[in-house]
Amino acid sequence: KNITLVQKELLTWYNKHGRHELPWRKTDDIYHIYLSEIMLQQTQVNRVRDEYYPQFLAKFPTLASLAETPLDDVLAAWSGLGYYSRARNLHKTAQLSQKSLPKTFKELLALPGIGQYTASAICSFGYEQNVPVVDTNIARVLKRYFALLHVKDKTVWEYAQKLLNHKEPRNHNLALMDLGSMVCLPKNPKCAECPLQANCQGKEEAELYTQKKKKEY
Ligand code: ADE
Repeated sequence: KNITLVQKELLTWYNKHGRHELPWRKTDDIYHIYLSEIMLQQTQVNRVRDEYYPQFLAKFPTLASLAETPLDDVLAAWSGLGYYSRARNLHKTAQLSQKSLPKTFKELLALPGIGQYTASAICSFGYEQNVPVVDTNIARVLKRYFALLHVKDKTVWEYAQKLLNHKEPRNHNLALMDLGSMVCLPKNPKCAECPLQANCQGKEEAELYTQKKKKEY
C-alpha cells in the first residue's frame, strides 16, 4: 500500500483518538518537554501528569531555577519517583546547559541522562525536527507492522525513518506512540481498531513481537 496513504490513515486515527490533552504535548517549553520525558521513563503517565510533573514544575519552573538549586533539594523534590540517578542527571544537565537545552540531536545526546530515545523525543516533540522516534511502544508497532523478528535496535530505527511522515513528523511520532499504548498492546492487541491493520504483517502472531524486558531505545 502507498506509504502516503498509510501515514494519512495513522494521522486521522491520531486526530480522533490521540492523547492530545497531555500537558507536555500542549507546551512548547523545551525544558518542560524534557522533564516529562525523563519522568515518563519509569513512571506511569497518569501519575506523572497528575502529581509529579505539576509539583516539580511548581518548584522548578525553569531550567535555570533547577541549575541554581542545591542537588539535595532537587533529590528531595524527586522523592516518590525513584531511580534517583534521573534526578542527578537532570540537575547536571541543567547546570551544563545554562539557560536552555541545545537544539541538535548530537548535542542533546552528549548530555547526562539523555539517550537516543530522549534526544529524539526532544527534537521531535519539542523542536518539531524531522526525526524518527522509537520507544518500547513504537518499536512494538513497527516490529509487528513490518514483521521484524530478532532485529537490532538500529534496524527498528531505520524502519521508523522509512515510515516517517516528513510533512507532520511530530504528530506522526505521537500517533505511533499512542497506537502502541492504546491499540497495539503487548498482549491481546486490538487489531480491529487499528488504522494500520490492512497492511500489518505481524497481526497473526502479534505476541512474537513483544519486548519482555523494559528497555531504553
Ligand atoms: N508524549 C510525549 N512523550 C510521551 C511519553 N514518553 N509518554 C507518553 N506520552 C508522551
